[in-house]
Amino acid sequence: MRQSSLVVVAMRLPIDDSVAPDGACEWRRSPGGLVSALHPLLRNTPATWVGWAGGSGPAPSLPDVDGVHMHTVPLSLEDLRDHYEGFANATLWPLYHDAVEQPEHHRRWWEAYQRVNQRYAEATAEVAEPGAIVWVQDYHLQLVPGLLRALRPDLRIGYFLHVPFPPPELFMQLPRRAELLHGMLGADLVGFQRPQAAHNFAQLATKVLGVAATDRRIAVDDRVVRIGAFPVSIDTAEMSALAASAEVAERAERFRRDLGEPERVILSVDRMDYTKGIEQRLTAYSELLASGHVKVRDTVLVQVAVPSRERVGQYQILRERVEREVGRINGEFGRVGEPAIHYLTQPFDRAELAALYRVADVMAVTPLRDGMNLVAKEYVAARVDDTGALLLSEFAGAATELSQAYLVNPHDLEGLKQGLLSALQADPADVTTRMRAMREHLHRHDITAWARSYLSALDETGSLVDRLPATH
Ligand code: ADP
Ligand code: F6P
Repeated sequence: MRQSSLVVVAMRLPIDDSVAPDGACEWRRSPGGLVSALHPLLRNTPATWVGWAGGSGPAPSLPDVDGVHMHTVPLSLEDLRDHYEGFANATLWPLYHDAVEQPEHHRRWWEAYQRVNQRYAEATAEVAEPGAIVWVQDYHLQLVPGLLRALRPDLRIGYFLHVPFPPPELFMQLPRRAELLHGMLGADLVGFQRPQAAHNFAQLATKVLGVAATDRRIAVDDRVVRIGAFPVSIDTAEMSALAASAEVAERAERFRRDLGEPERVILSVDRMDYTKGIEQRLTAYSELLASGHVKVRDTVLVQVAVPSRERVGQYQILRERVEREVGRINGEFGRVGEPAIHYLTQPFDRAELAALYRVADVMAVTPLRDGMNLVAKEYVAARVDDTGALLLSEFAGAATELSQAYLVNPHDLEGLKQGLLSALQADPADVTTRMRAMREHLHRHDITAWARSYLSALDETGSLVDRLPATH
């Protein structure tokens, strides 16, 4: 078994099997924030990635991706139903996102969560070199740090949560709250997107486990676990370079022509998820059309909503509701050859996404709650000419850093409509000042800066950090 000095452990591998247009099976980068964040970082670092390859049944043997060894964890249909769709995405996900949908609790899901976390811990223990650094990702694997420490006390273990960590009054609802906290505290460093999350975690450790905790350190047995905020980012230089390329500029022009050369293009790019505020945004847009503040001939909305977690009931219901509403709005306000909303559910490659970002005069990123939201950062990185208005929810982690965006509360329908209008009608000089400041921030706080700050806090020897590429 090949062993590595750096092991990333995440629910998913960074590639996914999918069916190519000619019917053949092909591997492509999986959509989602976590893969977008880590993919560029590992490209030049010898490492192993432990995760699930999509599908059920025996683990396929995969080629290395950009020098990173893929170590597959097989999952059965039952594991997927009870761990991924159940405990991870119908208990933890809604609870961690302010319970905007009701979390469900089932004892069978908890058993699967323990079983699957144990399997990931065992797979990781096999591929980690003695003294290796292991970086466990996200809410699907909260028990892995503790389980792995029991198997391999020689490892240096980091854990990073990409989603929000809720306030005590929500987390306390979890029947197995103590076990979940214990699992995370198996790490040497627990990272969050925002300082508020680290604060929530410290409060809960004291309340539930009775341990001494500050927002930076928690004493567990004879160890000290460090905690802190490390806001995740993107490969800013890569997205900027892609957006500036002739191919993307030409694709963007074609998109604008295909959209009928409207005066203003509004774009939203989301996974189809109830946390993303898609329905609220559609309502706001529909009311602006109805009141005549926005006219179909001048303005179009492009809504990309790639289906996600399609076997989970709440996601099926959301998709039906969104599609019904898009149909209603187009039926009511569209004209022949001029729909009010261009609705797309396909995955796009990076160049096409960059071209869409370039076409968008206004980018509407209005989640009800989001750990970070990398789409907002990608849009800023792609606006190489310093134009473009970012309409951003106060409840996205990105709002802390991108404070020059047009900020809105997506729960406030009138505020959302007003925000959209302000972004559409903004003074170009104001738009440029804001965009420039956000671009400057993202050039300094890119994905490498994130990894450096996290890994230098985790790896006191500094040997790993020295292997990372420089921040641009
Ligand atoms: P989440 O982690 O909840 O999915 P983020 O906004 O942080 O949300 O990350 C989403 C990532 O998925 C971004 O990198 C974005 O570019 C990518 N993505 C979203 N929609 C698509 C799509 N239709 N095709 C390809 N990539 C997509
Ligand atoms: O952090 C949010 C997250 O769960 C990531 O782990 C993942 O990249 C993204 O959402 C997509 O979700 P899924 O892997 O369930 O399709």
